[in-house]
Amino acid sequence: MKWNGRLGIALCAVLCFALSLPVVAAEPLKIGLVLPMSGPFAGYGKQIEGGVRVYLKQHGDTFAGRKVVLIIKDDTGVAPEVSKRVAQELVVQDKVDILAGFGLTPSAFAVAPIATEAKKPMVVMNAATSAVTTKSNYILRTSMTLPQITAPIASWAAKNGIHKVFTVVADYGPGHDAEGQFKKTFVAAGGEIVGDVRSPVKNPDFAPFLQKVKDTKPDAVFLFLPAGEQPVGFMKGFAERDLAKAGIKLIATGDLTAETDLDAIGAPALGVINSFHYSEAHNSPENKAFLEAWYKSYAPDRPAFMAVAGYDGMHLIAETLKKTGGNADGDQFVEAAKGMKWMSPRGPVSIDPATRDIVQTIYIRRVEKVGDKLQNVEFDQVPDFKDPGKS
Ligand code: PHB
Repeated sequence: MKWNGRLGIALCAVLCFALSLPVVAAEPLKIGLVLPMSGPFAGYGKQIEGGVRVYLKQHGDTFAGRKVVLIIKDDTGVAPEVSKRVAQELVVQDKVDILAGFGLTPSAFAVAPIATEAKKPMVVMNAATSAVTTKSNYILRTSMTLPQITAPIASWAAKNGIHKVFTVVADYGPGHDAEGQFKKTFVAAGGEIVGDVRSPVKNPDFAPFLQKVKDTKPDAVFLFLPAGEQPVGFMKGFAERDLAKAGIKLIATGDLTAETDLDAIGAPALGVINSFHYSEAHNSPENKAFLEAWYKSYAPDRPAFMAVAGYDGMHLIAETLKKTGGNADGDQFVEAAKGMKWMSPRGPVSIDPATRDIVQTIYIRRVEKVGDKLQNVEFDQVPDFKDPGKS
């Protein structure tokens, strides 16, 4: 009996070797997604999960011979203690191979030490404060950084007749990054900052800020708010208080005009100039295929940048595992992911080997009506742009 068993294993090993198959039956690949699935940022979880699932539908759910198993944990939004607890559960109880997701910066900051301690790859699919990737050597990011998406709109504004700007940002990591980079680039290009305010991350009331902006009479407001309810609320106030009629332009990062929120913002979005890495209107075969697959599963919901970052995060995991022969060991995985290059629905991207952050084209866009939809129409671009926040 024992002998037969041994013979069987030996035969299998020889056969597997001859067929270049792994000798041990491949373990499933467990990916633990930490995402806001409830609360005011639940839309982030929905978008990222959607992008992840669209990738699996298009490319199959087996990476380097390992069947992908998704385990999703709700961290409820800006709640670092919850993010930390659920990440710990994913590592200790669920024994995930890879941590991924992370809708908001506080969540990524809270989980970084867990990735380091457990030596697990951590793929950040949204959280966009520049410093996120410096918090653990196991972090790779497929979304963007705030300095990366802000510098191009600051340069564009300075070159296009905007001299005086009032900055309005959310009062946390991404907002501080956006404000700092906007001021740096705009002032270096000869512009002047005539005022700045930071609005609370939770339940902000924009009315007093909008009045202050109106009274200061800048040429433009530069705005960063986390995508979702806040941009919709801000735009409502901007229209109601007639800031545009007072001659005040609005420029922003593309978080303001995410396709998920454009329909709710409506006409006041028309003409807003912004800079970003993904537009639903991006004209490429990769984006066309992505959109087709997205709408097949999720119509009428529109995909935006977070869906694409989820999709690209899965691409990075799949292609990295091909390189490591299915090995998700933290150190080997991260080494293999460095320098990875691919064609995303957003355009060409790569992983900077020095920072593990994404390098990508940033587009300058104007919101226009295309057919029956409001879209971010790209009209200028900065190719191969690295995060300027780390240089
Ligand atoms: C973040 O918390 O890092 C964040 C959230 C929403 C955005 C951008 C950045 O639109």
